[in-house]
Amino acid sequence: MAIDLRSDNVAPVAREIMAAIAEANHGPAAAYGADDWTGLLQERFSLLFETPVTVLPTLTGTAANALSLSLMAPPFGAVYCAQGAHVDLAECGAGEFFTGGAKLVPLEAEHGRLSPEALERALAGAGRGDSHRVQPAALSLTQATERGTVYPLDRLRSLTAIARREGLRVHMDGARLANAVATLGCSPADATWRAGIDVLSFGATKNGAMCADAVVVFDPALAGELRYRAQRAGQILSKMRFLSCQLLAAVADGLWLRLARDANRAARRLADGLAGIDGVEIVHPVEINQVFARLPGAMRERLERGGVVLYPPAGGVTRLVTAFDTASADIDRVLAEAAP
Ligand SMILES: Cc1ncc(COP(=O)(O)O)c(C=O)c1O
Repeated sequence: MAIDLRSDNVAPVAREIMAAIAEANHGPAAAYGADDWTGLLQERFSLLFETPVTVLPTLTGTAANALSLSLMAPPFGAVYCAQGAHVDLAECGAGEFFTGGAKLVPLEAEHGRLSPEALERALAGAGRGDSHRVQPAALSLTQATERGTVYPLDRLRSLTAIARREGLRVHMDGARLANAVATLGCSPADATWRAGIDVLSFGATKNGAMCADAVVVFDPALAGELRYRAQRAGQILSKMRFLSCQLLAAVADGLWLRLARDANRAARRLADGLAGIDGVEIVHPVEINQVFARLPGAMRERLERGGVVLYPPAGGVTRLVTAFDTASADIDRVLAEAAP
């Protein structure tokens, strides 16, 4: 059978989450989020994050990001993010559209991580008060990053402290927050609002859900508009219970972290094995479930012949992504095919 390392999006649904969908599939339930699952979700996430939160399930991470940004930035706002951020490069302008025109401003990053210095430089030159320029409004940080790295908590806190000092709101794109928390070994609260995050896009789809991410609002002052904006965005599902039950199952008994740990472990095994093969260069620290590597052309051909499915390289770099269901034996087979 093929081993598909293109993305964690290619993975199936975790057994526990599929069971939760089947369990929710009985009888009538109130529509548009007035159901018991969505009610319970507010409580469960408030417990998980150790503070009262508003949770809005969404069908996609893009919707979660765009809605989150729409709570924070006016049409004339600037939203700072790292170069290569998904919100900037891979969401077809959804952030700009949902904010009514705010501008995503990508800043220099190393291994996907923004530095406090880069943010300070951007803010110093932002042209505050100049009506010809967009005005600093928000900072969007991806945790874990698009390059498979994780912001340590002190780096996060330094960035959000600058944002707060300058009156910016802070968004976290947590499409892979589970993988980051698994690596950091900290509490979800420490990883988010205690580190200065106002609104989180909580990802579950890449980590075993069928189709459920969420906007999690930590600052109650930002929560009031969410429902209306979500309705306009087509994200208030009539059968919301089927999204909410996925998120409930994801966080029940720490499943989200178990799945993320399994995915991370598989990537570690893959990176360690590849690093030992001549001609392979691992280009970013491997801190979650993604390995970015320069692979010799002949190796890519051997892998493809051996049934390993990969996206084409970008700038000579191949991204190999593991998921919760990637077995150690799969990785060993990949390494056997990779070896000259
Ligand atoms: C970092 C990051 N954020 C957001 C998303 C968006 O998720 P979706 O594809 O569900 O819209 C992705 C998807 O690849 C992602 O990698």
